[in-house]
Amino acid sequence: MKVTFYGHGCIGLQIDNISVLVDPFISGNSKASHINIEDIEADYILITHAHQDHILDVETIARQTNAILVSNYEIISHYEKLGLEGHPMNHGGNWTFEFGDVKYVNAVHTSSFPDGSYGGQPGGFIIKGEGKTIYIAGDTALTMDMKLIPLQYKLDLAILPIGDNFTMGIEDAILASDFIECDKILGYHYDTFGYIEIDQVLARQKFFEKGKDLMLLDIGESIEL
Ligand code: NI
Ligand code: MN
Repeated sequence: MKVTFYGHGCIGLQIDNISVLVDPFISGNSKASHINIEDIEADYILITHAHQDHILDVETIARQTNAILVSNYEIISHYEKLGLEGHPMNHGGNWTFEFGDVKYVNAVHTSSFPDGSYGGQPGGFIIKGEGKTIYIAGDTALTMDMKLIPLQYKLDLAILPIGDNFTMGIEDAILASDFIECDKILGYHYDTFGYIEIDQVLARQKFFEKGKDLMLLDIGESIEL
């Protein structure tokens, strides 16, 4: 499984030969100006919640790729009205897609669309494919529900928000990594704008002191699991 960081909350996954894009927010991210959304491949677009910094490029990329959208029922209904194809899920539900298994799990956050309309409840995803299991937390607070994850999954990687203010910060992300029993963390949702700027050196050091690995990728950089 190849994992690419496209900045902010946007992650690309290559699972076998299938491209899965999560929360595309590229054209509005000044730090991602070197990424051309016309070059982004997507067979599926997973959406954690309806906030603008997670859905901005959904429509454009879905129209250019014919990707199938996967999210909560309310977000999928919104996009189906615009003529896009979607697969609705809700919290606690699993589905086996051609690239692997997806579970839509709880996140503690909000989920309105940019116009204020209801975007369902926010979530995260657990994705199993190519023999690997990853957790993409979405925008969330630290929550006890994370303790449910290791009862059923042995994670190879967790992608956690670390920017604070709107989501968990560093200290809570370290606790989250205890809750989910995964010490290999890819940080996201930081440094995009003023409220979520972090000290990257200090963040890595704090994880390191707890025996954990915090990876922070350049925008466009990939890792292989
Ligand atoms: Ni959000
Ligand atoms: Mn966000």
